[in-house]
Order: sequence, then C-alpha cells, then structure tokens
Amino acid sequence: MNIEDKEQYKNRIGLSWQKVTSETYASLQENKLTEAVVGEKVIGLLKREGNVFAFAAKCPHAGAPMCDGWMDAAGRIVCPLHKYRFDPKNGRNTSGEGYKLYTYPVEIKDDEIWVGLVLS
Ligand code: FES
Repeated sequence: MNIEDKEQYKNRIGLSWQKVTSETYASLQENKLTEAVVGEKVIGLLKREGNVFAFAAKCPHAGAPMCDGWMDAAGRIVCPLHKYRFDPKNGRNTSGEGYKLYTYPVEIKDDEIWVGLVLS
C-alpha cells in the first residue's frame, strides 16, 4: 500500500477486517476480475503484480457487475456496460466521467486475503 492509498484510508475509523472466504491469494488468477465473498458482502478482487485490490462489486455509474468487465493493458478496471475505467488502487475514474469506484484496504496474511470493511 503506497502513501496515497494510506491517505485514502486513514480517516476510516472503525474498520472491521474480515477474511475473504471464497478465495485465497493462490486461488486468485492474475489480472482477472473475480467476485468474492467477505463477511456478508460480495466484492470484486484483482490480483496484479503481487498485489490484491478490492473494490465494490457494482459500478458507481449504473450498477453493472464490475467483475463481468476486465482489466485493460494499463491495469485499470473496465466496466462491462459503458466501458468507464477505474484505477484499482484508489477507485479513481481514469476515463474522466467523474465517478469513483469504492475500494477497500487489503492485507495478505500467508495465503489469506483480509479486507477492511467499514462498520455500520
Ligand atoms: S454501469 Fe459502469 S460505466 Fe455505466
């Protein structure tokens, strides 16, 4: 996690770290968007260059299932419906439409994937 990403999460008090139960680090395919279960939530995961990124399962634009999309050559997540692109590190909408994909902090412990969910 780099400094910019830490900045994004530093104000998120009350995170609940939960283990992804449907996938492990080893089971995740590199560069493929994968739907996963964590707690009672469904989220998206992307393993790329040794990192795992977690993001909302639904697109912030019109709710399309993000894991039906793909990763482009620059490592961005592409929504399957209108092809808006998002940076998996911080959810920034790199194609310029002004949306933000919600992202979650991730920790890898041995082969387990842990995701910080906001307590509600
Ligand atoms: S629903 Fe994802 S870009 Fe429109």
